[in-house]
Amino acid sequence: MLKIGVLVSGGGTNLQAIIDAVENNTITNTSISFVISNNPNAYALERARKHNIDAKCISPKSFETREQFNEALIDTINSYHVDLIVLAGFLVIVPSKLIKQYENKIINIHPSLIPSFCGTGYYGLKVHEGVLERGVKITGATVHFVDEGTDTGPIILQKAVEVKDDDTSEVLQKRVMEEAEWKILPEAIDLISNGRIAVVNNKVKKVSL
Ligand code: GRF
Repeated sequence: MLKIGVLVSGGGTNLQAIIDAVENNTITNTSISFVISNNPNAYALERARKHNIDAKCISPKSFETREQFNEALIDTINSYHVDLIVLAGFLVIVPSKLIKQYENKIINIHPSLIPSFCGTGYYGLKVHEGVLERGVKITGATVHFVDEGTDTGPIILQKAVEVKDDDTSEVLQKRVMEEAEWKILPEAIDLISNGRIAVVNNKVKKVSL
């Protein structure tokens, strides 16, 4: 059984997709040990509690220094002894100590087809506005392992989504979530929990059983 912990910052629709997939067996061999948010008001915490999952807020604002926050976050995560950490809309820079400790054991959902529309300081809507401004016809989402670079870790799954002529950024973001994020994030967890992928030379390979 793969034990996972989920880090969130906001509404938690990706978290909900994971919870639903575990409950309806779209994800197998997996249990959710904790949900941690940096934001006390994240609705994701409510979603977790409704399903009897340990839900905690660890806010940087409660600590004098970033180092103290990072240590508290790492200590709390370590206390659960999970096999995989899932970043589901987590808007905090992940401490490099955590990334080193959990090499190829942290995954992230990213609302574009990496390596298009990446970069420091970019986030969701801005990318979609970029897509709209430049007339790009296809966008999508990516699930990747987290390494110490920005959006540079091995890619696990990607799914393309059509950009329509009259899309607003809100309409497009919703379509990317519905058609891509909520599907490929649970799918990636299921691949990992069933030993279906391996990282070889910094690339994800599917393992046939
Ligand atoms: C998603 O678009 C995700 O790709 C991005 O943040 C958003 C999180 O939404 N990084 P939610 O909290 O899962 O609803």
